[in-house]
Amino acid sequence: MSSRLSSRHARMVAIGLVASASFAAAGPCDLYASGDTPCVAAHSTTRALYSAYKGSLYQVERASDSTTLDIAPLSAGGVANAAAQDTFCENTTCLITIIYDQSGQGNHLTQAPPGGFDGPESNGYDNLAGAIGAPVTLNGQKAYGVFVSPGTGYRNNDASATATGDEAEGMYAVLDGTHYNSACCFDYGNAETSSTDTGDAHMEAIYFGDSTVWGYGAGNGPWVMADLENGLFSGESATSNTADPSITYRFLTAMVKGESNEWAIRGGNAASGSLSTYYSGVRPSGYNPMKKEGAIILGIGGDNSNGAQGTFYEGVMTSGYPSDSVEASVQANIVAAKYAITSLTSGPSLTVGKSISLQATTSGYTDRYIAHDGTTVDTQVVSSSSSTTLKQQASWTVRTGLANSACFSFESVDTPGSYIRHYNFALLLNASDGTKQFYEDATFCPQSGLDGESTTNSIRSWSYPTRYFRHYENVLYAASNGGVQTFDATASFTDDVSWLISTGFA
Ligand SMILES: *[C@@H]1O[C@H](CO)[C@@H](O)[C@H](O)[C@H]1NC(C)=O
Ligand SMILES: *[C@@H]1O[C@H](CO)[C@@H](O)[C@H](O)[C@H]1NC(C)=O
Repeated sequence: MSSRLSSRHARMVAIGLVASASFAAAGPCDLYASGDTPCVAAHSTTRALYSAYKGSLYQVERASDSTTLDIAPLSAGGVANAAAQDTFCENTTCLITIIYDQSGQGNHLTQAPPGGFDGPESNGYDNLAGAIGAPVTLNGQKAYGVFVSPGTGYRNNDASATATGDEAEGMYAVLDGTHYNSACCFDYGNAETSSTDTGDAHMEAIYFGDSTVWGYGAGNGPWVMADLENGLFSGESATSNTADPSITYRFLTAMVKGESNEWAIRGGNAASGSLSTYYSGVRPSGYNPMKKEGAIILGIGGDNSNGAQGTFYEGVMTSGYPSDSVEASVQANIVAAKYAITSLTSGPSLTVGKSISLQATTSGYTDRYIAHDGTTVDTQVVSSSSSTTLKQQASWTVRTGLANSACFSFESVDTPGSYIRHYNFALLLNASDGTKQFYEDATFCPQSGLDGESTTNSIRSWSYPTRYFRHYENVLYAASNGGVQTFDATASFTDDVSWLISTGFA
């Protein structure tokens, strides 16, 4: 036993040296395999997780003609070909329809079906993620993560080779440590095959967020915890574990692993440094032995609870309990991938502090501008000869995004302190109440107009990247290109969401 361990250790050290010399030399799943804890699921929209992998990473579907495109790495072991997505999705919108499993087990993730809770789609399915909500760079090359808004979820209820019962497994995910909420449950990992709550110990998944309904950690959160079903655990009991820190990293490595009456939560900065152990010890009372079912979830709870939000870049599940040293080499590989932020906006640029007006471009409506009538945000016919009152109602001061400084917020010129925000997907003019929810609802990321004109902007919601400022019957909505609401109609969508931005009337 000890000689086997030491030769394994020697092999890992050798791989670690190669990995630091060349990014594509050994992927996370090569490292797990070297420790005899192979990946049985490997999901990433940003890069290959094996040095030799050059198959599809994910699939996008565009709204314009409902055709799909598989996105592969630029080279074996490399970063996703984001440019192929950008070309395919030009002048329309795209959704991420499949996140392929790179492990060879066929454990692909697709749109989560209804379960204990229904999704927001008309058939009870969860929403799919927009394809452009989470742009990043890896070693300077652009790629897209999976931006999960409330209502979005992926699942595989028929997975192969994942842990069941009390079998050992490990998992990690690279997440956006600044994108979270307190709703249940932004998870990645092992869950029920029925999409329903079948009882304690039927799940073992990474959770990230600031829920305090069950367990929690130090400070105000967010925390990495484990969703073991009917409880988010930061440690041995569903209460506080002060060794589980609040996360402030933009890029977060989160890990959970479990074997017979032993489990651990680990984490670290995915952009630098090493991992820390937030908990390692025995199972909570009532969770030994585990009763894992082996389905795989992303962005939702085991019973399809879909109120949470978060961003997923890559993650795997293993067979067997990975050693801390293998996990250290995986963390080094993630750091070497050099995750970094990139621009969230495109198209004609906006200047913070300037007053702007936004003119509709849809044929027959081009005399109309975004204005407000009390708390309703609408379009009104405005011109240079309009009253000062109307000109002010149709003028907006550009502010740094309240929830994300890479995007913008729009403050009313005549009602300082009030901003355009979405609420039930209508746009309202509301006074800021200073909450994280308000800031997120009032943050928008302008991009090149979906009508394809170089002069226009489309203004998408930061928190719901499938949704844009859209005029529909002269009222403003945060609308998606197809969906359950009447204002999500696809007819004339790209024109209705394309705006000419000029110096404000007032
Ligand atoms: C925002 O406006 C809506 C619609 O008038 C109103 O019901 C709500 O109370 C307002 N919220 C805030 C925070 O002002
Ligand atoms: C996008 O729209 C612009 C303007 O109509 C057009 O010039 C361009 O060819 C379009 N691109 C695609 C891929 O359709």
